[in-house]
Amino acid sequence: MRRKVTIVGAGNVGATTAHWLAQKGLADIVLVDIVEGVPQGKALDLMQALPVEKSDVSVIGANDYSDTSDSDIAVITAGFPRKPGMSRDDLVRMNAEIVGEATREIVRHSPACILIVVTNPLDAMCEVARRVSDFPRERVLGMAGVLDSARFSTFVAKELGVSVNNVHAFVLGGHGDQMVPLPRYSTVAGIPITELLDKATIDRLVDRTAKGGGEIVNLLKSGSAYYAPARSISEMVDSILNDKHQILPCAAYLQGEYGIRDLFVGVPCQLGAIGLEKIIEIKLTPEEQAALQKSAEAVEALVKSLPQEVSQKA
Ligand code: APR
Repeated sequence: MRRKVTIVGAGNVGATTAHWLAQKGLADIVLVDIVEGVPQGKALDLMQALPVEKSDVSVIGANDYSDTSDSDIAVITAGFPRKPGMSRDDLVRMNAEIVGEATREIVRHSPACILIVVTNPLDAMCEVARRVSDFPRERVLGMAGVLDSARFSTFVAKELGVSVNNVHAFVLGGHGDQMVPLPRYSTVAGIPITELLDKATIDRLVDRTAKGGGEIVNLLKSGSAYYAPARSISEMVDSILNDKHQILPCAAYLQGEYGIRDLFVGVPCQLGAIGLEKIIEIKLTPEEQAALQKSAEAVEALVKSLPQEVSQKA
């Protein structure tokens, strides 16, 4: 039997994730959204691309969760973007409600699934999904690090004029401006970029990566990035469904790793059939540890601002 992936939110990120998954033939897909017709329409359009692609997976669109039963993975992209005039706390409250409700429904229909949270603010939304699902940490992950390291890799490859295939970027910490890049572990054909680029150049590329989401928002005017986020999600899904044991930077619930406890923070994770198999811990310099701690404190502050009612278990 083919594997099954539910994607909640059939907006830009959700629909593009469905596109990548279908193209790779990774799983049957159910797209769920509150807007009537949109998930159904996008699913039908995508299905009609698949004879040309020669992919036999099924893509269904729905406004409820009845078709999502027994999904292996559920990806949560549902939420609102931050609008002008909206405070960060308003956004947290609104998206926490959406992510909480989506998690409750997913758990009811797929109690054994693995959750991949994408809705921002990412690390706090992971905590909502963890509390509501009551899943062990192996089965609640957040997507941010694959995207941040892909952005960093893009800029490093362009700067050096080398293939992206040769670049391996290493980032820790929260998403976007909370990112903690580790240039000494970021390599080109195995050579640390600190040997290939001067500090000022690395700082410039790091800064552009940390502001990578904002750069795209400014260009698009309305909406935010979706091609790279969606491809990053599909990499995590592939590693889990195909039990690849790939090490990917993901938001995971730390239990003392890197000196952090009971918080979702981006760290290198080994992903396989059970979800999170292992967190890879590396020795950090005092500056890197301080940056990661600062990132964790920002996550903690957001988690503290979560409304109590969203924590109600499924
Ligand atoms: N249940 C299901 N879908 C919902 C719900 C809900 N309760 N509430 C909102 N949605 C849907 C919207 O109808 C919309 O189709 O979520 C979708 C969000 O899509 P977009 O607005 O296009 O946003 P997108 O660019 O896909 O980003 C989604 O991912 O990267 C993050 O910051 C981004 O938090 C945002 C999320």
